[in-house]
Amino acid sequence: MRSGPLVPPIKCQGIKTKLVDEIRHLVSGLEFERWVEPFCGSCVVALNLQPPKALLCDTNIHIINFYRDIQNGKIDHLVVRDYLREEGAVLSSRGEEHFYTVRERFNSSPNSMDFLFLNRSCFNGVMRFNKRGRFNVPFCRKTDRFSAAYITKISNQVLAIASVISRFDWKFRVSEFTETFAGLNRGDLVYADPPYAGRHVDYFNSWSQEDEKQLGRKLASLPCKFVLSSWHSNEFRSNSSMDKLWGGEKFRIFTKEHFYHVGSTEDLRHPMIEALVTNFPARGSTKLERARQITLPLNNESVPSLRTDMDAG
Ligand SMILES: C[S@@+](CC[C@H](N)C(=O)[O-])C[C@H]1O[C@@H](n2cnc3c(N)ncnc32)[C@H](O)[C@@H]1O
Repeated sequence: MRSGPLVPPIKCQGIKTKLVDEIRHLVSGLEFERWVEPFCGSCVVALNLQPPKALLCDTNIHIINFYRDIQNGKIDHLVVRDYLREEGAVLSSRGEEHFYTVRERFNSSPNSMDFLFLNRSCFNGVMRFNKRGRFNVPFCRKTDRFSAAYITKISNQVLAIASVISRFDWKFRVSEFTETFAGLNRGDLVYADPPYAGRHVDYFNSWSQEDEKQLGRKLASLPCKFVLSSWHSNEFRSNSSMDKLWGGEKFRIFTKEHFYHVGSTEDLRHPMIEALVTNFPARGSTKLERARQITLPLNNESVPSLRTDMDAG
């Protein structure tokens, strides 16, 4: 598996770019045949860990189609560069009206390029769909959004991820998590990153307490190892599922403060203590690891290495 951050061209709420190093640390040294993500989102975790074989699933058909289009060569960095130059120039001259033209075009006939355009030029870079599954985020209001430097950055991101995807045996699938779980085997290693209940609700993210419980039951009875991402607490409340579902001896909980930059409101951009739950001891595990706390200075882009600072185990 590779080290170093690789940033996907698609952004989504709850993207785990800043947890990649910790997840890598937790799974390093484990032997497994297939990496499975029932909620792959931007795929940032798989793209960085680079397992040779993976099943990457999500209910969001647009994300899955985007990765499939890259995998089958339908789009590459040059196609992306030319498309963004063309559409970016129209955006500069016509202004936000053009954003809404592309949004309407995408909603009546979804395609990966318009999806990328909207994702990288909408307000706050959020991905939100209304009850009818239509992309409904407004424009970011920067008509010169697609500067030459920004286009180069995005097409380089496409180039980098295309080169990763082409090297490995990865499958991208539109799938409900229940369906993904039904096909799991002993040799799989699951990284589950479900929506956080009540946090980002939209067409692809209607996550209920019942979903949460069902996922908990499925994970607890898995024949293979898993890492679950969840929230532990924020300044207002703590996640009661942490102790209820994962308080037992079989599981371990690791926490890290994480500051969300992607969010439609200030409210969603508060610091959050993230939790990583596993059903296996991490490398060199001791009781200490149950309380492994990794702190990140707010707004700091760099991810420090793991640090054990307290023993609550
Ligand atoms: C927190 S995001 C995953 C983020 C991802 N790990 C990343 O770093 O980009 C949760 C994902 O779950 C997907 N999702 C929501 N409900 C689902 C369900 N019932 N089954 C499968 N995927 C679902 C959403 O479309 C979303 O992409």
